[in-house]
Amino acid sequence: MKSIKLIATALISVFIGSCSSQKETPEAIIENKVDSLLNLMTLEEKLGQMNQLSPYNLEELAKRIRKGEVGSILNVVNPEEINKIQEVALNESRLGIPILVARDVIHGYKTIFPIPLGQAATFNPEIAEQGARVAAIEASSDGIRWTFAPMIDVSRDPRWGRIAESCGEDPYLSAVIGAAMVKGYQGESLNAPTAIAACAKHFVAYGAAEGGRDYNSTFIPERVLRNVYLPPFKAAVDAGCATFMTSFNDNDGVPSTANSFVLKDVLRKEWKYDGMVVTDWASALEMINHGFCTDEKDAAEKSVNAGVDMEMVSETFIKHLKQSITDKKVAMETIDNAVRNILRLKYRLGLFDNPYVVTPQSVKYAEKHLQTARTAVEQSAILLKNANQTLPLTDKVKTLAVIGPMADAPYEQMGTWVFDGEKAHTQTPLMAIKQMYGNQVKVIFEKGLEYSRDKNTKGISRAVNAARQADAVVVFVGEESILSGEAHSLANLNLQGAQSLLIKELSATGKPVITVVMAGRQLAITKEVEASNAVLYSFHPGTMGGPAIADILFGKVNPSGKTPVTFPRISGQVPIYYAQHNTGRPANPTEMLIDDIPVEAGQTSIGCRSFYLDAGNSPLFPFGYGLSYTTFEYSSLTLSSEKLTTQDSLSVSFTLKNTGHYDGTEVVQLYIQDKTGSVTRPVKELKRFQRITLKAGESKQVSLSIPVSELAFWGYDMKFEVEPGDFRLWVGTNSSEGLTKDFSVSAL
Ligand code: GLC
Repeated sequence: MKSIKLIATALISVFIGSCSSQKETPEAIIENKVDSLLNLMTLEEKLGQMNQLSPYNLEELAKRIRKGEVGSILNVVNPEEINKIQEVALNESRLGIPILVARDVIHGYKTIFPIPLGQAATFNPEIAEQGARVAAIEASSDGIRWTFAPMIDVSRDPRWGRIAESCGEDPYLSAVIGAAMVKGYQGESLNAPTAIAACAKHFVAYGAAEGGRDYNSTFIPERVLRNVYLPPFKAAVDAGCATFMTSFNDNDGVPSTANSFVLKDVLRKEWKYDGMVVTDWASALEMINHGFCTDEKDAAEKSVNAGVDMEMVSETFIKHLKQSITDKKVAMETIDNAVRNILRLKYRLGLFDNPYVVTPQSVKYAEKHLQTARTAVEQSAILLKNANQTLPLTDKVKTLAVIGPMADAPYEQMGTWVFDGEKAHTQTPLMAIKQMYGNQVKVIFEKGLEYSRDKNTKGISRAVNAARQADAVVVFVGEESILSGEAHSLANLNLQGAQSLLIKELSATGKPVITVVMAGRQLAITKEVEASNAVLYSFHPGTMGGPAIADILFGKVNPSGKTPVTFPRISGQVPIYYAQHNTGRPANPTEMLIDDIPVEAGQTSIGCRSFYLDAGNSPLFPFGYGLSYTTFEYSSLTLSSEKLTTQDSLSVSFTLKNTGHYDGTEVVQLYIQDKTGSVTRPVKELKRFQRITLKAGESKQVSLSIPVSELAFWGYDMKFEVEPGDFRLWVGTNSSEGLTKDFSVSAL
């Protein structure tokens, strides 16, 4: 066995040597190696490379690796086991092809960062990149070299539990944050030992699941695909994302795992992508359930013919594609192309040269990692309300009641998709407040409820009593981690259990109530906001949630997070998002709502416009919203020109002033509206954002530049171009307000 492998290796290196004399580029050298190895492979070995397993028995796995039946594994994280698996692959299989080891490392491996929705709330690609880099360093130390992240599905419906894994509702924010995560996971070079291949998922439009019910069908026409759902994935390609994953959903009747339009026409032909495409978990096999495939062989054929390279766990490829070749249902070239994409990735990762785990184990929970995670939480927490400057807590607060099921919930605080995080390492708000501020305040802790869904109100009276003894109350509510993430859709976005009653009873004491929400999605917290003096929202903050939130509550950190999603007033408003279309009958802000409608009101007496009688049209909090302990003033907006051509670049400048008493960071946002198009356009779209830190009283001249070409969209004739006409621009602190200017664009 070894001799065959040695001969094969020798042949490959001789062949490469002969080709590389002309100073071939590294990529060309890899292509030559791929082709040379491919030429040595049997059909069975090729199909083996296309097969990914999540093994339950390592001995069984070893047998299959020896037979060349396995290209990749997921969910093995023990470095010794991984090294043994690689030894079998390299020394006991005919060609010695290393195994690609994968794991979901969505927002941290051991050091858990805020869930991606929380990282998006920082509007800071640098911190998102740093978080992914930390995750890659920790995961690769156990032998993981491929992860299934970033998840960049534009998500506009919080009933969908996977909104937690997303970067929110906006294509531009998702593109910027997603690309940063790709760079973080992959580092400077894929063949570095701490680089892990990223995976842009779920391709595509999975976040548009009808009704927000996970795995449900989507009905997104090509124009909306191209204008809304595809841009973040194109940004991932431009960032060098090594792999893509197909999504579970059928879009307009076609399951993504067999959708050659997105997998070939867009990804390969238009975007010239040469990475590797993997199915989602059994998403090939599930096309039988979809009623799109008759049997496993049909599923395998439709997947690979549509452009899929590797199958995650359902093994239809390895079982049936040999017969498919015989039946001429699949061309050998198709198989060869898939295997090339797989081998190319393995060469790019340096797996043939360095297949074994080398990173020292001491990287997990490194102090630097914990500090980076803490900074991420500090920047992701969103101050939604702060009546009468309730926050930050001052030294007038001598006794603090810390209440609620999420105050000391180390497991829940980590959020969804945490396979390897350890709750023992989580620092909860209760721990942090006691440790960091216990010498400043006397802390009285009462959970009030045992967990977020707890309907048993017996603990509320004790919580109320604690509040009565305190100068201020901080109540931690939200969602257990199980309530968001995959397959965890909710029809009702209200706080679960008796949490709302808990807040109401605490508010009735007359003490200042600060509500801190830790959740995997935006919740309908209208009543709770009304009952609270201050509200801080922290999408499941992860390991370092406690210290960061404590520092915000006590004023050491000034919050700067902004909502990456629109908060509904009630569940029935969703999907609700800022970049909506105006409709022919846009609502007035002052629409008469249901309680004001006279009895026996005439059919058309309250007007016929697009809004909800019982909720109006406005959100509880708009996209891009977040307060600070200071205040910021925008002034002196000027444009480089108000008459532009399609070839110009628009420069926008304005003055930002910190008009309050605290140093602080503002996320300035630039939105543009294309007033008239060959198709109706969103009322505005985020085109730029930037975090700007100013000392109290400090002013800064801010300049943002945007090429007019970035106003292009897919219009009526499905051409991607800037349509000349009138535009409106806003710069401001969120998507619903700001300084505005009009400008026009004419053809050159
Ligand atoms: C899951 C998810 C996907 C994940 C994969 C591997 O079903 O849809 O996001 O990466 O399986 O765990």
